[in-house]
Amino acid sequence: MSQFLPEFLQGYIPNAIQLIYLVATGFFIVGIKRLGSPATARSGNQLAATGMLIGIVVTMFDREIVSFEFIIAGIIIGALLGAIAAKKVQMTAMPEMVAVFNGFGGGASALVAWGEFARVEPALIPADGLVTTGLSILIGSITFTGSFIAFGKLKGFISGGRIALPGQNIINLVLTIGALGLVGWFTVDPEFQAVFWTLFGLALLIGVLTVLPIGGADMPVVISLLNSYSGIAASMAGFVLDNNLLIISGALVGAAGLILTNIMCQAMNRTLPAVLFGAFGGGDETAAADTGDKSVQKTFADDVAIQCSYAKKVVIVPGYGLAVAQAQHALKEVANLLEQKGVEVKYGIHPVAGRMPGHMNVLLAEADVPYDQLYDMEQINPEFKSTDVVLIIGANDVVNPAAKTSPGSPIYGMPILNVDEAKRTIVFKRSMNPGYAGIENDLFYSDKNQMFFGDAKKSLQELAGAIKELD
Ligand code: TAP
Repeated sequence: MSQFLPEFLQGYIPNAIQLIYLVATGFFIVGIKRLGSPATARSGNQLAATGMLIGIVVTMFDREIVSFEFIIAGIIIGALLGAIAAKKVQMTAMPEMVAVFNGFGGGASALVAWGEFARVEPALIPADGLVTTGLSILIGSITFTGSFIAFGKLKGFISGGRIALPGQNIINLVLTIGALGLVGWFTVDPEFQAVFWTLFGLALLIGVLTVLPIGGADMPVVISLLNSYSGIAASMAGFVLDNNLLIISGALVGAAGLILTNIMCQAMNRTLPAVLFGAFGGGDETAAADTGDKSVQKTFADDVAIQCSYAKKVVIVPGYGLAVAQAQHALKEVANLLEQKGVEVKYGIHPVAGRMPGHMNVLLAEADVPYDQLYDMEQINPEFKSTDVVLIIGANDVVNPAAKTSPGSPIYGMPILNVDEAKRTIVFKRSMNPGYAGIENDLFYSDKNQMFFGDAKKSLQELAGAIKELD
């Protein structure tokens, strides 16, 4: 597009492009910072998207670009697909969507590297360009196939259990070392095309073989890690194209993905190697718990309405079941009715409640729950002692005392919401089935606990009706 500018401006174009890239980088950094709170996340997302648009438009002025048709067609198709996906995808299916987007990101980086390799005479590519081309192919292809396997596991197209050959971890290690060796060989002898294609094929295979053995329920962590990989692959593609914006934005995604992976592992009390090489969480969420001869106290809407209406403080603990039931609006109505009666209502949010980071915050924001009523685990835990009633809506593992009391439990050591310190807990769920970790929850059998069985949305609607009838 630079040919359309007056001649006296032509000489300034390369520096101007770099300067505007720096501005776009600023948009990305401020955008990511604003994603840190639900109150500013929307504008953060818009800022980062604006930075991306600036980056794309400015790149059009690069003199190396000779044909615009494919770029414009790509922007239109991509924007359409993105807009449709954003509108249509359910909140509970967000991890799947992120998996697909990561896969495309990794695939795009590998294709960029392949495109450059095909365009430029290999002997003319400097050694650093060859290394980054090889790494871009390697990481981008692993991200591509790995993300689609993760998508298949989350969707249930592929079994959520561990699918592996005996010694799979060793096989994967050997293949990865082999692929790194091929990157080295390719750098030394780029004219030998067979090395390039073997590397490409092997990387695609490694993506499949490393994600297949991981349990379906661990996929959100894997997706976050693959998100980081897609960023690193994009950064490598930035080196291949000598494009500073791509290098920086890729590095930002790579670092953010890695930080998020770490936060998720810590909140679940799992190490990354345990997620990648262990077999916890086969995704069998329907297995019934062994209830033995213990019994639970059942309750119903009228009784819950009385207990809550005469309480001074009620804390609501949302979990994955709230999202499945899409019960956030019904919950907000119950909270409004209680507040009208002078009850203090707060929400206690566990960092891994739900199936993705920030799941509960987004869900409650959708129902216009004020941000100042949302309390993180560290903030709400000291408050349970002075709480009359805790309503646990579709949450299970995040309130399971086994995390504190049972050293043999898979969730032992995971920080939880100390709801057992409150005067009364009421659990809203459909059955005695376990949650994500597949383990029984002793809280359900406590003297202070009652079970309100049923779909969370229906139960909350009944509760709202019962509270209104008390007036
Ligand atoms: P879970 O422990 O998975 O429990 C959810 C409960 O919701 C289930 O016991 C289920 O019981 C109930 N439920 C499902 N559909 C329902 C409906 N329509 N109405 C009412 N209840 C319903 O959820 P949690 O407490 O939110 O814990 C999250 C778990 O996911 C943790 O173990 C965490 O480590 C894991 N995890 C989270 C993340 C992130 S980042 N959030 C990532 C990976 C893994 P019924 O079937 O009996 O109804």
